[in-house]
Amino acid sequence: MSKRTIVTLPGDGIGRAVLDEALRVLDAAGFEADYVEGDMGWEFWCNEGNPLPERTIQLLEKHKVGLFGAITSKPKDEAARELSPKLQDKGLVYSSPIVNLRQHFGLDICMRPCHSFKGNPLNFIRRGANGEIEEPMVDVVIFRQNTEGLYSGVEWSDPPALVYEALMTHPKFKKNFGQSPKAEISVSTRIFTKKATERILRAAFIHARKNGYKSVTVGEKPNVIRETSGIMYKMAQEIQKADFPEIQLWNTNIDALMMWLTKNPENYGVIVAGNMFGDIVSDGFAGLIGGLGFACSAQYNPDTGIGLFEPTHGSAPKYADYDISIVNPVAMIESSCMMLDFIGENKMAKKIRLAVAEVIAEGKVRTYDMMKMRGMADVVKHGAASTREMADAIIAKL
Ligand code: NAI
Ligand code: MG
Repeated sequence: MSKRTIVTLPGDGIGRAVLDEALRVLDAAGFEADYVEGDMGWEFWCNEGNPLPERTIQLLEKHKVGLFGAITSKPKDEAARELSPKLQDKGLVYSSPIVNLRQHFGLDICMRPCHSFKGNPLNFIRRGANGEIEEPMVDVVIFRQNTEGLYSGVEWSDPPALVYEALMTHPKFKKNFGQSPKAEISVSTRIFTKKATERILRAAFIHARKNGYKSVTVGEKPNVIRETSGIMYKMAQEIQKADFPEIQLWNTNIDALMMWLTKNPENYGVIVAGNMFGDIVSDGFAGLIGGLGFACSAQYNPDTGIGLFEPTHGSAPKYADYDISIVNPVAMIESSCMMLDFIGENKMAKKIRLAVAEVIAEGKVRTYDMMKMRGMADVVKHGAASTREMADAIIAKL
């Protein structure tokens, strides 16, 4: 069989450091692949006016599977100022390459697992009834709709007249906003389609069934956001009844869910939500398992088999130029395991996860975040493992 080709997208800042370590771990686990690097990120915005060049889109189109580090994004005006002089005043507007990739390839399923590792000093703890310390083990997988909702970019400040007139036909808009001058109104739309809603719900239920989770929780707000959250919950009820009767369907409002997750996170299994609430709740759960150094994700389109695997952290620019990289590579390594699962290399993924779990349980090798240090260039001198040393420890277990 010919070797698979994986597209690597290191992006900016610490993206390359964590990606390089993940590749070494994949290699040590026996994963055989060719890697081709795709251009993406700030450098390409500044020099070419496009942070996601067409050639990168074509690479992913061809090879289908990508490992992505992180990118730097900056506000519109700042981005425009950093364009190379030859590109200034051409009316180029920065937009996030990762959001564009999601939309271009319809990577509408975003999956973010949050599992606690035994022995991780960053695990969430609470007090029990008699004041004793409890450390609930979190095992939650969040399915976030990744292309629609509040992140779809359909928005205006001082909306066009046609949009404004259409809004004025809604009695509630007229009553509550009709007195504000049009120029002072900003609108971000929250659009859900049935098709995408069904796809994220089914992905959540299928995952629950395959992995033995007893419940799927819809984390929306159907009692208030009646049309979009409402349709998601209604469809969840129909899908559960018709096709997943053995899985419990829970409906927990997103605000309440953010409260419950620090009271009884162990009660939740699979959670499904729209784009923004999914983003928020996944960060909430990630905080319980150690934060950004541990938060991994997959985004994929089940129809085309195109998938992109990335830690949820950003490019952490303040750590990018350290001589020795100090950031935790676990989130990126776990994201690579999700890639392995996606392409059917489940055994290899399991092997790597076990190695990571062993290193964390032993507690001898810990990056600065796990030692609760402030991130500074000298943390390694004070006993923290560097990015590379953490990966080395995992490789040693493999
Ligand atoms: P960030 O995630 O890059 O960093 C926030 C803080 O989290 C860091 O200062 C560091 O203390 C910690 N951190 C992040 N990754 C870590 C790791 N692997 N190990 C240990 N600690 C870690 O978020 P920030 O500072 O808000 O954004 C920096 C840049 O990244 C911005 O330009 C932002 O737009 C971009 N960004 C990109 C994302 C992506 O590529 N998907 C996601 C989030 C932010
Ligand atoms: Mg986020």
